[in-house]
Amino acid sequence: MLIDGHGRKVDYLRVSVTERCNFRCQYCMPDKPFSWTPRENLLKFEELFLFIKAAIDEGIRKVRITGGEPLLREDLDRFIAMIYNHRSDIDLALTTNGYLLKHVAKKLKDAGLKRLNISLDTLNPETAKQIAQKDVLSDVLEGIEAARSVGLGIKINMVPLKGINEDDILDVLEFAKERGIEIRFIEYMENNMANSTIRGLLGKEILEKIKERYTIKKLGREGSSPSFSYLLEDGYKFGLIDPHKHDFCESCNRIRLTAEGYLIPCLYFDEAMSIKDAVQKGDIEGAVEVLREVLRNKPEKNRWSEDESESSNRAFYETGG
Ligand code: 5AD
Ligand code: SF4
Repeated sequence: MLIDGHGRKVDYLRVSVTERCNFRCQYCMPDKPFSWTPRENLLKFEELFLFIKAAIDEGIRKVRITGGEPLLREDLDRFIAMIYNHRSDIDLALTTNGYLLKHVAKKLKDAGLKRLNISLDTLNPETAKQIAQKDVLSDVLEGIEAARSVGLGIKINMVPLKGINEDDILDVLEFAKERGIEIRFIEYMENNMANSTIRGLLGKEILEKIKERYTIKKLGREGSSPSFSYLLEDGYKFGLIDPHKHDFCESCNRIRLTAEGYLIPCLYFDEAMSIKDAVQKGDIEGAVEVLREVLRNKPEKNRWSEDESESSNRAFYETGG
């Protein structure tokens, strides 16, 4: 079992397979980075898998593949199959912007993928274009349908932004509800890569919008989920991911691996340690030692929860949000 320096059990590993993305979301990567990590610097699937296997032996039970946009990495289904064929009981999920999904949903499902989180910030094509800086909505909606039709579990993520998509909250909620899909509203996490004029809605502001139509019952955090659950009077459940809330980090069970091999203990802070040398030498023990060190140093709390104007230097496109 993996326990961090603050006594939290860590059993969830998020693996970014690329920092590249086909969107330029205002809250993440409004401009293309000055330079991308050269492809040859990325860990190969075999190298990432070596680490994932070792991490599973140490107690990891849930693996989520992220990006950038993970579907940009060629043969992603091969990587998913490697993990699934090793341990089919691992909770294996993927986070995507959905744009390419219609082409690969079946392949991903056949490879052993169980669940997907898809970003859907609006149902208005113009607003979608404003956020992603590309005309993306119809492809994303087709991607969602494709994933549903092959039987992949789906959750929808929405990041409400002031003056941009805040009036779309109820529309996106209805879209998800009609389809029996859980939606999770995510508070915008201030970061220095984002468009500096962007302001997010706090959880309570998001709830106010939903209360214009519904009576909401507060449920609570389920297990180590970062999402706080709420119930509408008709029985539909939705989630709120509220990193600005003081207790958000108490049940944090996750660490992140970047495509270049850096292990990141917290989305907020810059700290990272590389497992690249170790896995490239086949030194599993060395990689596990880095993992333990990172866990010992995992911060207790992010800083968004202390001051709403705090901003992270982390590039979310390296860590997959
Ligand atoms: N704040 C909140 N959520 C973010 N995401 C990306 N950047 C941010 C941010 N700055 C979300 C995306 C996507 C997931 C990968 O992370 O909306 O759903
Ligand atoms: Fe790409 Fe996701 Fe960042 Fe948008 S939020 S630019 S889809 S990585």
